[in-house]
Amino acid sequence: MTKERLIRTFDRQASQYEKRRIDNTQKRWRQNLLVEAKGEVLELAVGAGANFPFYASDVKVTATDFSKAMLEKAKQAASFHQVDAEFICGDIEGLNFSNQSFDTIISTLSLCCYDQPLIVLDNIKRWCKPNGTILLMEHGISTNSFISLIQKAINPLHYRIVGCHQTRNIPEMIQQSGIIIEKTESHWFNMVHLIWAKPGRIAD
Ligand SMILES: C[S@@+](CC[C@H](N)C(=O)[O-])C[C@H]1O[C@@H](n2cnc3c(N)ncnc32)[C@H](O)[C@@H]1O
Repeated sequence: MTKERLIRTFDRQASQYEKRRIDNTQKRWRQNLLVEAKGEVLELAVGAGANFPFYASDVKVTATDFSKAMLEKAKQAASFHQVDAEFICGDIEGLNFSNQSFDTIISTLSLCCYDQPLIVLDNIKRWCKPNGTILLMEHGISTNSFISLIQKAINPLHYRIVGCHQTRNIPEMIQQSGIIIEKTESHWFNMVHLIWAKPGRIAD
């Protein structure tokens, strides 16, 4: 799918994402993850701002997304929850930040969308300070063979309608990226992964 079409796909879903901010299961997961967010925070693909209720009052968030409609909802969430946030509208696969410039980098439910998720993970490593924290909540292919079969079957149509892949192997991708996992939790037949990590070594 072209980037323009993908952006339109997410623009159309902005109101649904706004309503889903109060999903109770995700609330618990997001809360557990985001309690670790500190200092200068970069949030990739912020969507409608589902993480904003959980930020501590002293963090400074740089929030990115390529959907203007999502960013509008995220700005409202930031204002409602009094989060100190700056917004950048752009494709994260094309954006650049200075090396080692963020204390915390957050991605929730975004690795499913990118053309080149491994390059994004590599950038996350570079942009994170060496002692910084990477916090991820990502979904992908289940380890349950029946569920994974269904995921593979519906993936092409699901991607065209919703813009997100169901079949990415998240633990394998994180391992390939060299990001160092400190703690991980998996849910829903290992489809959803919560990851607390450090950037690890950056290639020269
Ligand atoms: C599944 S939603 C998740 C939103 C939010 N992170 C959350 O946890 O609810 C994916 C988001 O990624 C954004 N997105 C997808 N690909 C992107 C890209 N290449 N650059 C920037 N944003 C992107 C979409 O616009 C959408 O807001």
